[in-house]
Amino acid sequence: MGLSGGVACYKSAELCRLLIKAGASVQVVMTQAAEQFMTPVTMQALSQRPVYGSQWDRRASNNMAHINLTREADACLIAPASADLMAKLAQGQADDLLSLMCLARPADRVPLLLAPAMNREMWQHPATQRNVAQVQADGAGVLGVGHGDQACGETGDGRMLEPLELLDELIAFFQPKVLTGQHVLVTAGPTYEAIDPVRGITNLSSGKMGFAVARAAREAGATVTLVAGPVSLPTPRGVNRINVKSALDMLAAVTAHEPQTTVFIATSAVADWRPAQASASKIKKDGSGQPPELQFVENPDILAMLAQSERGESRALYCVGFAAESHDLTANAQAKRQRKGVPLLVGNIGPDTFGQDDNALLLVDEAGTRELSRDSKLSLARKLIAEIANRIGTGESS
Ligand code: CTP
Repeated sequence: MGLSGGVACYKSAELCRLLIKAGASVQVVMTQAAEQFMTPVTMQALSQRPVYGSQWDRRASNNMAHINLTREADACLIAPASADLMAKLAQGQADDLLSLMCLARPADRVPLLLAPAMNREMWQHPATQRNVAQVQADGAGVLGVGHGDQACGETGDGRMLEPLELLDELIAFFQPKVLTGQHVLVTAGPTYEAIDPVRGITNLSSGKMGFAVARAAREAGATVTLVAGPVSLPTPRGVNRINVKSALDMLAAVTAHEPQTTVFIATSAVADWRPAQASASKIKKDGSGQPPELQFVENPDILAMLAQSERGESRALYCVGFAAESHDLTANAQAKRQRKGVPLLVGNIGPDTFGQDDNALLLVDEAGTRELSRDSKLSLARKLIAEIANRIGTGESS
């Protein structure tokens, strides 16, 4: 982990903590400018290793810190990457330990990832953009910048991404890119069917599994659209999210995106019925003690519609359904797979998983069943993405 000079160094302390907590070993290298913003003492305490700042550091027995430091590394993450550092990297300059180390790293097996941080004018300056393009062309990954208030008082692009976003980007970087070039459409969460302007019917789906699937698909290199019912979960980075309320809204959003979709994963708990007519005004008690009489109509089955829609030969769409059951999981999931007309159906026991961070899945396809044992929803989502990739012929074992 490298720090060059910038106010964003205050976020690097938190990033280092998150990396250590996630199980990484972190070797920190700081430029002199970075030491104006954050002390090596803090970074040493958080990383639990002495920090390096100079290419003349005599602690390295061969006096070659710039070589030794990257030989054991899985990746070099520079956060913050200043405009000055990127200019140096673009030119191959190597007059301090950090730039020297980047140049001397074994580029074929130690990827370089940059988290730029600077004032918005500096970021959009043609010289900086030229340097960003050059370092990318030379193989570095530029993780992008955030938008918002800057330490200088201006507002715009150039903020360093937040520590958690950087951690997620780094983790995503290491996931197998088995869905590169695929367009994945995911539905998630419950739907809400209005009775009147203040009431409606919905269900206990938290959306967590669907959001994890969207994240895992993006990590695998896909372009991902997530059609989400009413849930208050953060949008996975790099995922295009469309918020909807009702089943009909969800159908409209899905239909609009279907033409470019190659993989459709329906994780949402769509309400089976909706009130036939939502009242335009709040339904009041009429004093009779009788509840109002509500009529319901069935919602369209979004998954079945997509799975069974006519498509030309050149337009393959792989559809994956979910089934939240309370009992007889295998039999119910197998029957549901047939009924929906999908090649793969993922069964789970709803009451065991609603709102929780873990789950257990049963994959049902033409060949039979396969259990994915209890694990975090994100781990299961990654395994499911690998299974889907194998089935569409883009996976590691396909
Ligand atoms: N689904 C859908 N549209 C609906 C109902 C369900 O797209 N109107 C999708 C879900 O997103 C899920 C799958 O179909 O992928 C199965 O959903 P589920 O509610 O378990 O199945 P139902 O068809 O509603 O069957 P039942 O309630 O009878 O178990």
